[in-house]
Amino acid sequence: MLGKNDFYSMKKNGEAISMVTVYDSAFARMAEAAKIDMLLVGDSAANTMLGMDRTAGISMEAMCLFTSAVKRGAPNSYIVSDMPYGSDTEPELALQNATKLLEAGAHAVKIEGLPLKSLEALREKKIEIVGHLGLLPQTAKNFKQVGKNEEEAEKIIEQAKILDSLEPCAVVLEHIPDMLGEKVSRAINAPTIGIGAGQQTDGQVLVMHDILLMHPFKLPPFAKNFANFWEAGVNAFCDYKNWVCKKKLF
Ligand code: KIV
Repeated sequence: MLGKNDFYSMKKNGEAISMVTVYDSAFARMAEAAKIDMLLVGDSAANTMLGMDRTAGISMEAMCLFTSAVKRGAPNSYIVSDMPYGSDTEPELALQNATKLLEAGAHAVKIEGLPLKSLEALREKKIEIVGHLGLLPQTAKNFKQVGKNEEEAEKIIEQAKILDSLEPCAVVLEHIPDMLGEKVSRAINAPTIGIGAGQQTDGQVLVMHDILLMHPFKLPPFAKNFANFWEAGVNAFCDYKNWVCKKKLF
């Protein structure tokens, strides 16, 4: 299994790091078979798996359940689990919740923004962290690109440098201008994983349901699908329904 040192070496050697979100055993098994470098049990499970409007709605219990399912499906993969909204506001709370995710099977926890005291507390206990800067879905008022003006861009670079001093496994950069994605990637030692942050980040992450097109909704501007599970799934259910109906006739 790959680990933090491998991700740093990949950055150094210019090798791209692949990350996808997964939430259950079946798809985690598929991602492991495809040798994806890092699996993210994202709090996007709130949207993709639970049909909620916002990621902030998901509970710690749900994140632990999804994490344990992913661990069973992909026992040899590096698993990062999201700390859900409100789970990391105080150092002690962050420690308790991160420990639950590690016990469920995660190797590292991802935290949105910069709750510095909580992040420091985790690193003091040698808990591996993944940062998440740029668009922060847990607290964002809208889903527009961020970091477009100089002040916002400088703030993201500063935050990335602070995170870097804590030696995270990686820093996710979401929905920022391509040039800023490149700038941050050059400014820090930790590998950057972009989602809508251009091609110059050290790796890329996408939501599984977008990669496989598992829904009938419009993809976010930065997402890309590599299959059409929606069409295949609806067709298969139709074929099944027809088969059931025909069987009844004989
Ligand atoms: O929860 C999630 O899917 C994420 C990705 C957008 C990086 O955090």
